[in-house]
Amino acid sequence: MSHELVLVLDFGGQYNQLIARRVREHKIYCEVKSYMTPIEEIRAMNPKGIIFTGGPNSVYMDSSPRMDKEIFELGVPILGICYGAHFMVYGLGGIVGAANESAAAEFGRTECIFDTNSPIFSGLKEESIVWMSHNDYIEKLPEGFRAVGHSSKCPYGAIENREKKFYATQFHPEVNHTEQGFEMLGNFLYKVCGCKGDWTMEEYSQTAIREIREKVGSGKALLALSGGVDSSVACKLLAKAIGSQLTCIFVDHGLMRKNEGNEVEAAFADSGVNFVRVNAGERFLGKLAGIEEPEQKRKIIGEEFIRVFEDEAKKIGKVDFLVQGTIYPDVIESGAGDAAVIKSHHNVGGLPDYVDFKEIIEPLRLLFKDEVRALGTTLGLDEKLVWRQPFPGPGLAIRIIGDITPEKVATLQEADAIFREEIAAAGLDRDINQYFAVLTNMRSVGVMGDGRTYDYTLALRGVSTSDFMTADFSRIPYDVLEKVSVRIVNEVKNINRIVYDITSKPPATIEWE
Ligand code: XMP
Repeated sequence: MSHELVLVLDFGGQYNQLIARRVREHKIYCEVKSYMTPIEEIRAMNPKGIIFTGGPNSVYMDSSPRMDKEIFELGVPILGICYGAHFMVYGLGGIVGAANESAAAEFGRTECIFDTNSPIFSGLKEESIVWMSHNDYIEKLPEGFRAVGHSSKCPYGAIENREKKFYATQFHPEVNHTEQGFEMLGNFLYKVCGCKGDWTMEEYSQTAIREIREKVGSGKALLALSGGVDSSVACKLLAKAIGSQLTCIFVDHGLMRKNEGNEVEAAFADSGVNFVRVNAGERFLGKLAGIEEPEQKRKIIGEEFIRVFEDEAKKIGKVDFLVQGTIYPDVIESGAGDAAVIKSHHNVGGLPDYVDFKEIIEPLRLLFKDEVRALGTTLGLDEKLVWRQPFPGPGLAIRIIGDITPEKVATLQEADAIFREEIAAAGLDRDINQYFAVLTNMRSVGVMGDGRTYDYTLALRGVSTSDFMTADFSRIPYDVLEKVSVRIVNEVKNINRIVYDITSKPPATIEWE
């Protein structure tokens, strides 16, 4: 794809993805690459600008990330942020002071004064709050540089070499706490790098459709559709590009939420692709009968999913391409190291390695999640699927504690649907990142219509989180919870008590199993 490209060179900072997001919000395509990327590769990418990220190290440590100084000879504008600023100063012959030699360290909200004659601060207020997070500091500027921003502790809060188009900030313009940070990045991209801003989802979809057509030719493609945002958007895109040359297999394991299987089918059945829905509910429930242990449930579902998919794929025979809904964070976060397995996640979009195909197509591998959603909207995908909250591959099986029966699945589907309906009615559905009901295995005594009941306790869970690695329980207003509780105990059989889960992650996880 021939877009304007800005390259973010990753020196190990925690905001690297955020920088890329900000650049894309300015409608400029951006990629994150390691600082170890060979200079020839960088040159071949022909970037309009380069941004060095922050990083946890000091430039003088032996182990600190450094790259070939040729980067400064490419004739490409560079913005260095925090560690990236230190690396620029150090690499061009200036001096970076170690924090223990001065009291220059700054953390958090800091007032900064800017020279608005500098292109990166042009049109901005002369004084505003920035977000600092540094021990080391710029002590002496390299030749050709001058200060264009300072704070009370930091005379070189921002520096420039206008002739070479090198800029650096000690603070982090990419975080929200830096008041004019977004505009500063915009100035760098548009005023310094001369970008035009050609990264829009309309443009992306047209280019992607053209490229998919060229690649696939008259071949056949196969996609495992889960109903999740990523595979749904990939399906819609491929449907536009190659129509009936695509076959989507949607394995309905009978553990979806209420009506969800039908919604997925309705969104794709008339889209021109060969849509195969496999109603495998009985098959899955048969395998799960009597199983109580969470990991065992996950394994059974994962394996059975592969079996069902395999049976269907065999009917289609050899395909040329396998389509996957991989998105950009999956690409840059690959290699999670030695982290302990808390739960074996089963992702129905995963690579089925037994399917006979020539090549993989990953049409979303350049996109962040919100861009995938924007693309879905551009392509006319049903809003329900565009804004679908994350739903685990094993579905309701891991939200029914203990053994799973068809009756329990039906009970949970009804209760969960009421919860979701009321959250949407209260206008909270886009604020709470994930919310659902869990059928606990506990029964307790209640009284209804003067009679004794001995029924199940239902737990409600709602969390706010940005990455699903940590999460806080959502403060859902009591009157909303009350409405949900009254409706569920009145409308759903076998439930006589509702509790709200007030644990965060950690120590709990988001799902109960
Ligand atoms: P936990 O429960 O680990 O969940 O805090 C974190 C996020 O992952 C989702 N989740 C899964 N997603 N397959 C998936 O595709 C799985 O097996 C799975 N288990 C949990 C969970 O819904 C939450 O968003």
